[in-house]
Amino acid sequence: MDKLIIEGGYPLKGEITISGAKNAALPILMASLMVEKGCTFFNVPQLRDIRTTLNLLEHLGCEVEKKEKSIRITPHALKPEAPYDLVRTMRASILCLGPLLAVLGEAKVALPGGCAIGARPVDLHLKGLEKMGASFTLDEGYILGRCKKLQGAHIYFDFPTVGGTENLLMAAVLAEGETILENAAREPEVVDLANFLIHCGADIKGHGTSIIKVRGVKKLKAKEYKIMSDRIEAGTYMVAAAITQGELILNQCPIHSLDAVMSKLTDMGVGFEILDQDKVKVKPFQEIKSVDVITAPYPGFPTDMQAQIMALMCLAQGAGTIKETIFENRFMHVLELVRLGADIRLSKDTAFIRGVKALKGAPVMASDLRASASLVLAGLAAKGKTEVRRVYHLDRGYENMEVKLNQVGAKIKRIKE
Ligand code: EPZ
Repeated sequence: MDKLIIEGGYPLKGEITISGAKNAALPILMASLMVEKGCTFFNVPQLRDIRTTLNLLEHLGCEVEKKEKSIRITPHALKPEAPYDLVRTMRASILCLGPLLAVLGEAKVALPGGCAIGARPVDLHLKGLEKMGASFTLDEGYILGRCKKLQGAHIYFDFPTVGGTENLLMAAVLAEGETILENAAREPEVVDLANFLIHCGADIKGHGTSIIKVRGVKKLKAKEYKIMSDRIEAGTYMVAAAITQGELILNQCPIHSLDAVMSKLTDMGVGFEILDQDKVKVKPFQEIKSVDVITAPYPGFPTDMQAQIMALMCLAQGAGTIKETIFENRFMHVLELVRLGADIRLSKDTAFIRGVKALKGAPVMASDLRASASLVLAGLAAKGKTEVRRVYHLDRGYENMEVKLNQVGAKIKRIKE
């Protein structure tokens, strides 16, 4: 398992180009199961989770052609089974359920286990698909789903689930009749999926709001599509500029989907200069001071930025709180940050962070994707050397993070173990 050795204390300066969004690419690649003639995708990030998704699509019967700047996916004789060995490494594999039911009328998907950040059930996915005519049984850890032809339905989500909205949206585009998704997720990645499906001929309205209306069509036409930029990667590098008291220009940055993050960082003393519609300069304009954060579904502050802003708060003036409302166990990075000298106390779903003058490098352990990003950010500012172990977590969601950071002045070495 690789580790990163970070020598802290170097203000970052230069330009970073943001890659394609992992959480938009995953559902969009799964949706290609529903497009007979095959689609070509651009700006797909080179990540572990993408490789897992492409392996799963090949296992399901798709032809995957990787070129230097694009990936083409053509479904052939599709099979209904997503095996445990693939699903257990990536919970988002459940996103093949809707497309398989829509195209084959059957699916056998390993029930995703829990993960470091919580139980993460899929009950809302199944409840919605049952309303569309699917029936499910659970057998030896697999979800077995069957349906004749999915029927449009009026579905209300108890919680604006991102994956649930994406699964039901994909199922609905080829269903008979109209589907209404109420209390749907509004995340930009859901909008990107909807835009791809519309580009292929789907009839979708209201994406990006909490009520999405879909009128089923007979088939989808093969198209090319460019995946949106990754707002969480961009937010992570905004924090990197702030925590090192540096100055970064982010290219291909989805500024319009980062309001909550940029607003919080501005409150903390980070300055933004918009240089173009997708280009922004990030530079602290004063001593970073602490704030209070509550994570929430989009357009609220994203849970996927919680660990990263916590790293910044560890070195801010004053004290602040972070309340995590989306996942029940998304504070695995706290004890590791404390090993670096942070002053953080936990009480149920809230972390109390008191800024300290400096962090001191030490060996730390990554536990999940965003926790590992938080430890890298803290390491960039900590005095001395920080060793971040199990960086395979980081590789799931960040394309060449240490390469991008070293290009703007960081001192990071990857040790292959
Ligand atoms: C997506 O996960 C993202 N993953 C997550 O990003 C992100 O943190 C999350 O949305 C929230 O924004 C991808 O897009 C691949 P949810 P997802 O369904 O779809 C509960 C990252 O770091 N829930 O909105 O799994 C669930 O347990 C990852 O890139 C149910 O109870 O999120 C959780 O507590 C981490 N029943 C909450 O809702 C369900 O059927 C949010 O889940 C579905 C969800």
